[in-house]
Amino acid sequence: MRIAAAADIHLRPERRESNVRAYSAVNDLAELLVIAGDFTNHGMQDEMQECLRVFEHIHVPIVAVMGNHDYESGHQDELAGMLRVAGVHLLDGQGIEIGGIGFGGTKGFCGGFAPHELMAFGEGAIKKFVEISEREAIKLDYALAQLHTPVKVAITHYSPIKETVIGEPEPIFPFLGSSRLERALDRHNPALALHGHAHKGSFSAHTLAGTRVCNVAVHVLQRRGEPHPFVIFDL
Ligand SMILES: [Fe+2]
Ligand SMILES: [Fe+2]
Repeated sequence: MRIAAAADIHLRPERRESNVRAYSAVNDLAELLVIAGDFTNHGMQDEMQECLRVFEHIHVPIVAVMGNHDYESGHQDELAGMLRVAGVHLLDGQGIEIGGIGFGGTKGFCGGFAPHELMAFGEGAIKKFVEISEREAIKLDYALAQLHTPVKVAITHYSPIKETVIGEPEPIFPFLGSSRLERALDRHNPALALHGHAHKGSFSAHTLAGTRVCNVAVHVLQRRGEPHPFVIFDL
């Protein structure tokens, strides 16, 4: 199966025509499109409406997770509902099988990368923060565990490994992902793990257990010279 993947599309209405042209190219190039979060800039309904106007021109299934920007205004549940009503397979700790391939996804969260992860110690606020990070990893684990296909694809917005955020300023690495997600991946050995969020990050690296991880943020793809705002994988 040929799948296309993008993240951090942050669509703006003033670029609708070129966005429709660029994203609808997927119809001829892939059987499915993954969008790994950050549809919007500020998590507003009108921004998501703009995304849906572009998606009207996409005729392959879309499998997606939300990104942190989609939470910015506190309307994440409404935005998620808009995506689902439009037929997007939005994953938030669930798995779905399409065309014989299993997709498991969740937004993920930050917390840093081993051996320098933030631990649940001290103030309640720190414990709460780490708890959210752990809960997102459990959701990813659960999503992948639900799949019974021989080939699985994991989708998160935040990065499961440090290597694909390299290019971002090093002091912000802990805010770009979490090794807890990597450990969840490595319990299931998916064929591919897709994420975004690190706009200035690196395209591809591997987890400790050897799962290929790709940062499909459109900014990363553009710097890589991809001719489309998505990248194609043959699975
Ligand atoms: Fe983004
Ligand atoms: Fe993001």
